[in-house]
Amino acid sequence: MARKLIGALREEKVDHLLVTGDLTLSGEASEFERALELLAPFAREGKLTVLPGNHDVWSREAAATHRFLRAIGPDGKGMKKPYQAYPHKVDLSPEVVLIGLDSARFGEEPLESPGWLGSDQLARARDLVRDAAKEGKAAVLALHHHLMIPPERVASDAKLARMPLYDADKLVRLCAESPVAAVLHGHRHAAFRLEIPGPSRPTPVICSGSASRLHDEPARRPRALIHQLDRTGLRATDTLVASSA
Ligand SMILES: [Fe+2]
Repeated sequence: MARKLIGALREEKVDHLLVTGDLTLSGEASEFERALELLAPFAREGKLTVLPGNHDVWSREAAATHRFLRAIGPDGKGMKKPYQAYPHKVDLSPEVVLIGLDSARFGEEPLESPGWLGSDQLARARDLVRDAAKEGKAAVLALHHHLMIPPERVASDAKLARMPLYDADKLVRLCAESPVAAVLHGHRHAAFRLEIPGPSRPTPVICSGSASRLHDEPARRPRALIHQLDRTGLRATDTLVASSA
């Protein structure tokens, strides 16, 4: 499914591919190798941003050896000497800046371990958003974990371990105080969009859903979202759904 979706994105000639984490099920080296192979065309062209998900730090060994950073890293090229690479800022165009965050944290009980950004990362993200605003650019924030679940999804998601973002309230506050064009995330296996307050207008928060999990419910079908942005913010979002065949 992922291969099909990536092929369709190549045909669409998107400017940049953002992968919002959970490239693997359990952070195995062989899983990262397969993910890297799929993403290589975008990585080679410098058109790729990847964020770690909770599954990518699922095991103590994967987390302790920085397997995600070594194998993939923020640009899909891997890091020989891993360091804290997030916030990862990418100039998508002269008008739009992408700021990728790392919310994935190892926990002894993976199904009960929340994501966490931390005050240092949040402060750096806020500075990057404010810098973009001063330059007249739109800033897009991206992370793996959801900030909140919309009411229409609460019932069906209630049976799932939610593994929320521990400091989601601080990210909501950042968006309320500084202009963020959109918050893009993954983690939930359903596509949805909600809005949170912004300094002058609402901030869209968009979950792309899963790219590779078969499901009958329309919102849970494997998909990619194609966003159009300029200095004024998010202009449009189209959905690219991989066929279930
Ligand atoms: Fe996740």
